[in-house]
This record gives sequence, structure tokens and C-alpha cells, in this order.
Amino acid sequence: MVQAKPHLPSLTENLQQLSPSGSQQIIQFNHPEKYRTSEWYTGHGEIAASGDGRSFEISATYALKAEVKLVDGVFEPSNLTLAEVYNPRGRCVAIVDQTVDELYGESLRSYFEYHEIPLKLLACRAWESDKTPETVHRLLQFLGKDGCDVSRNEPVLVVGGGVLSDVAGLACALQHRRTPYIMVGTTVVAAIDAGPSPRTCTNGSQFKNSIGAYHPPVLTLVDRNFFGTLATGHVRNGMAEIIKMAVTDDPTLFELMEQYGSQLLETHFATLDADEKLGEIADEVIYRALFSYMKHEGTNMFETYQDRPHAYGHTWSPRFEPAAKLMHGHSVTIGMAFGASLAVEMGWLKLEERDRIIDLCRSVGLSVYHPILEDIDLMLEGQKNMRCKRGEQGLWAPLPKGIGSCDYAQEVSSGLLQTAVENHKQLCSSLPDHGKGKEIYLSDLGLE
Ligand SMILES: NC(=O)c1ccc[n+]([C@@H]2O[C@H](COP(=O)([O-])OP(=O)(O)OC[C@H]3O[C@@H](n4cnc5c(N)ncnc54)[C@H](O)[C@@H]3O)[C@@H](O)[C@H]2O)c1
Repeated sequence: MVQAKPHLPSLTENLQQLSPSGSQQIIQFNHPEKYRTSEWYTGHGEIAASGDGRSFEISATYALKAEVKLVDGVFEPSNLTLAEVYNPRGRCVAIVDQTVDELYGESLRSYFEYHEIPLKLLACRAWESDKTPETVHRLLQFLGKDGCDVSRNEPVLVVGGGVLSDVAGLACALQHRRTPYIMVGTTVVAAIDAGPSPRTCTNGSQFKNSIGAYHPPVLTLVDRNFFGTLATGHVRNGMAEIIKMAVTDDPTLFELMEQYGSQLLETHFATLDADEKLGEIADEVIYRALFSYMKHEGTNMFETYQDRPHAYGHTWSPRFEPAAKLMHGHSVTIGMAFGASLAVEMGWLKLEERDRIIDLCRSVGLSVYHPILEDIDLMLEGQKNMRCKRGEQGLWAPLPKGIGSCDYAQEVSSGLLQTAVENHKQLCSSLPDHGKGKEIYLSDLGLE
């Protein structure tokens, strides 16, 4: 017997059900908790039918819970932070910077053995020259079906510096379109900036960090004990990102850096031969830099808005950093010092405030000048790239307005750019080393 086909309502009938009168109707969707894919992500949405049976509009919100924590001895067996995450899941899948694995791999493995948590670990070389789509692809092979086959609710543990956090974060963003990860930043840059950042990426052919996804770690653990084994040049490099937040957002942090910056550099944030008081200062500096950064970055996760103080020093530098093969931190301070001179030119900053910014960068050996600034065509190209990246409305270049606050320059004409470069060059030519700084160039090991 042939059964009559069940009547399937047409789209128009469906919409008529939603909107029997033909008028607009809005339905809100709050999905029940029991259907949640992952404990860190939620979302809701609404669908609004126009009522004509031909169109509707959808708006959806995605919400993330991310935590940032200062910890002491993350791989000490008595520290339960990681064990509490991975014990219920029955294993830990980890991607670890190769150098960090050589230095801390034994304590990491002992930690998981002690807590009887099986560990699947990939050690990954993460030099700046490894920040490529090929590295991301290799990490995806480790995470995917032919590797560990991570689940969509299984947070991958990522342990390393800024290069690793960028590429491994991107691999996690791509795996299952979104796999959570926990970040343990082992360099100053990764601890206070790249690690908790939602901006995961790899380098493109011309422009740094140009391919990526917004995917912050669900948990960032900051343990400054790792800084003890860092090369001093990398400690210095990371201080650039702290100074960035101090200048644009936190005058107390600026004063702390003026007072203690060089001691923090010498002692690698009080991990080498330092007293307890400096340890407390180190924690306060790290906490303030992180809080200030995440207040702006963490709450504006998709760069939906361009009032981003943490982009100070990052407007022209993404173009000149790879061209001059500079360490990231030095390239940022050259960008910040130039930005301070430009802000003076624009009447936003007093001369003595510009000098305090330049003196602070120099007190820890960071560069404030490089001849590449004189390549005006390159600088204008950088501006063009940035305008495209930040949206067509303006350049949105954060520049200081006093110490601890900033505003955003929308237009910087080539004439103004040239004048600011000339004045900045003149200022820096009077400095003993012409503003060069220490250990400024990249090598495969990240230092000249
Ligand atoms: N996504 C973002 O928001 C963001 C922000 C800032 C910087 N970044 C990126 O971060 C990168 C720079 O990061 P970085 O400065 O951490 O450099 P890095 O990751 O290259 O690490 C520096 C070197 O230190 C080694 N290392 C790491 N931890 C160590 C430890 N505890 N002891 C000894 N050696 C250690 C690494 O193997 C590497 O050789 C750049 O590519 C930059 O673009 C991204």
C-alpha cells in the first residue's frame, strides 16, 4: 500500500505559524544548558521574521569565559591547578616549545605522572622563522584524527613563548573550528600579552601576523619562575609590552617601571637572586600589565572596536619589523618612541612626557630609533596596511595624551609623518648610542 506523503509545511506556512498576522515576529533562542558543547562557551540568538514570507534576520551572541591567574610553581606536584582540569578528562594533550621541553619537560612529565594523568606531548620548535602556515598544519596533524583526535571540549595545554601561543592557538581555533586551550606563557611576552590574547596567528608573506583567528585561551596561567632561564634579551623584549600599557593606560605601572624596571630586568623579574620585596613588585607589575591589557583586549575580543590602547607602537612597526629583522619588543618601542614624537608634533604630549617615555625604554636597553623609520614609502605602506586591517574609517593609531592615557590619530599625512620622523631622528642623534638599544636583531634563536 502506498502511504500518503506526510504534509511538510512550506517555509511560508512555517513563517505564517510564527507570524500568523503577517506582521514581524521575533523569536529569542536561549539554548538549554544540557545541550552545551563546552563548559567555556555559551551563546544565544534571535531570529526576526519580516512577516512577508521572504526574509528574516538573525542576530547571535557568542560568550566566552576566560580566566587569567598568577601562579607559583605550575608544575609542582602540590599545585593542583592543571591536575584539576585534566584529571576528570583522563588525559592531557600538550604542545610544548622545544626549548621549554628541554628545560622543563622533565618536571612537566613528572607532574602528570604524579597525578596519574596520561600525557600526549608534542615538542615543537617555535622560532620566529617557524611562524608559518606549515607549522600550523603540523600541529593540526597532531591534534587531528591521525594524531590525538582531541575532542571539542578537551582543552589542549600550550606551554611556551609568543610564537608558540600564536601558532598553537591558531591550530586550536581551526581544529573542530574551535577547540579550547590552556596557555602557560614561559616568556614575558607570552605571560603578559601574546599568551592571554585572543589574536592567534601565523605570519603571511609580507606582513607579520596577517593570517589568524580570534581564539583566546580559556585559562592563562602566569608563572614568572619560567623567566629565570630566559635570555636577558628576551626579558627586555617583553618589557616593551609592559611599557605600552603603562604609557597608554596605567600611570602607576609607569612609575613602578621607572623605579624598578632595570632591577626587574637584571633579576629576570626577581627569579635570580632577589629579595622578597622585589618579588612582590614583580607580581604587581605583571598583574597590572595583564589587567590593563585584558581590560581592553579581553572585552573587545573580535576587535569589533578600534579604541585599543594596546596597539600603541604597533601601527608602523608590523611593516618595518620584518624588513629590519628586529626583535618584536624593540620594534614596538621604536614605534612607541616615534609615536611619542608624533604626539608632541600634534600637540597631544608635552616634551617632558615624551622624554619620560624615551628614558624609560632606554633604562632597560630597549631601542627608540632605527634608520628604517626614514624610509617614508615603507612607513606609508605600513599605514595603508593598517588602515585596511583596522577598517577604512581611519588609521586608529593610539598615541599618548599624557602619561597613562591615549587617544587615536585618524589621519597622519605624509608631510606630518616626515616632519615627525626628522624631529625624532634629531632628538635620538643626541643620545649616546643614537637610541639603538641592546640585542635588537632577530636570529634563529631570537637574539642577535
Ligand atoms: N597574539 C598577540 O597578541 C601577540 C602579542 C605580542 C607578541 N606576539 C608575538 O609573539 C612573538 C614573540 O614572542 P616571544 O617574545 O615570547 O618569543 P618566542 O616565542 O620566540 O620565545 C623566545 C625564545 O625563548 C625560548 N623560550 C621560551 N620560554 C623560555 C624559557 N622559560 N626559558 C628559556 N627559553 C625560553 C623560545 O624557545 C624562543 O627561542 C612574536 O612573533 C609576536 O608577533 C603576539
